[in-house]
Amino acid sequence: MQFDIVVLGGDGIGPEVVAEGVRVLQAVGKRFGHTFNLTEDLVGAVALKKYDIAMRPETLERARRSHAILFGAVGDITGDDARIMREALFPLRQKLGLFANLRPVKVYPALLNATSLKPEVLQGVDMMVVRELTGGLYFGRPKRQWRSAAGRQGVDTLRYSEREIERILKVGFELARGRRKHLTSVDKANVLETSVLWRQMAGEMAADYPDVRLDQMYVDACSMQLIRWPAAFDVIVTENTFGDILTDEASVLAGSIGMAPSASLGKPRRDGTAFGLYEPIHGTAPDIAGQGKANPLATILSVAMMLRYSLGLPKEAQAVERAVEQVLEKGYRTPDIAAAGQRAVSTAQMGQAVVDAVGQG
Ligand code: IPM
Ligand code: MG
Repeated sequence: MQFDIVVLGGDGIGPEVVAEGVRVLQAVGKRFGHTFNLTEDLVGAVALKKYDIAMRPETLERARRSHAILFGAVGDITGDDARIMREALFPLRQKLGLFANLRPVKVYPALLNATSLKPEVLQGVDMMVVRELTGGLYFGRPKRQWRSAAGRQGVDTLRYSEREIERILKVGFELARGRRKHLTSVDKANVLETSVLWRQMAGEMAADYPDVRLDQMYVDACSMQLIRWPAAFDVIVTENTFGDILTDEASVLAGSIGMAPSASLGKPRRDGTAFGLYEPIHGTAPDIAGQGKANPLATILSVAMMLRYSLGLPKEAQAVERAVEQVLEKGYRTPDIAAAGQRAVSTAQMGQAVVDAVGQG
């Protein structure tokens, strides 16, 4: 089959890790007989510098017409980070309707000792966090700062409509149904009206999913349970800001944020696939950019998610995931997941190891 993929490496380590994701995608094409037509473009600080805008309108249009987007990271902490998010990342999410952010957290047996948590706490951790991505505090209006007689003030708005809550809860229930049939809906219903509405709606929707066990948990309690007994979670569904924070926390379980992939999906099609943007959740990591130290596995695992969720190629997705597992078992480690004294490989060496494993099947 033929697919058009828009490739947006972005800033910092983005282009380095995306290059490895692309090589793995091409290895999949070769082994399974697919053609991936790749179009690269600039977004983020690099685009801002060249075009005076962090994402050109034609970039967004090309992305809209593609089958999927492979994205690295954008941002420039020394420059106008907020402007880059406003012009590039947020329009990609919101204008393309990518409301469902899937962030799986899986502990690979080979990395059980790669974190500061005890291995027995990490055993069997395999969860999917579903984060609402186009609403809540990130987009709610009013959103501004002003001066008053009492000094400077600022406001952000936490608003959710029934429609926004319903469609994301549905993604959570459907995913749980296809997994271990346990959904945890996370809110702050003891304080926030949006959460009261969220909790009511989750309870109502549970009637349509009698096969799924629904737990409703406050976000503070969830943040504790995530490191106390993470294997107890299957699918978590939550609003934008809570999901942002909980997924950084959860990524520690997998050994490094360098292991954490994501999919940002639009409305599901009839066949269950959806248009999507695929990105590692780690960000630009400017401190290690250009040194070959970045872990490309989060991007490579994002490519696997692309194959599964947007391109409808589950066999191919599994081949990539198996390849990642194999290279970890063989002992390949980038610096972020290497144990003390263990030799680390470069970004490109890790990518090549996965390419080879995909090729060998
Ligand atoms: C993420 C990131 C972004 C977010 C930042 C870079 C704006 O932290 O994708 O989790 O908060 O959504
Ligand atoms: Mg984040």
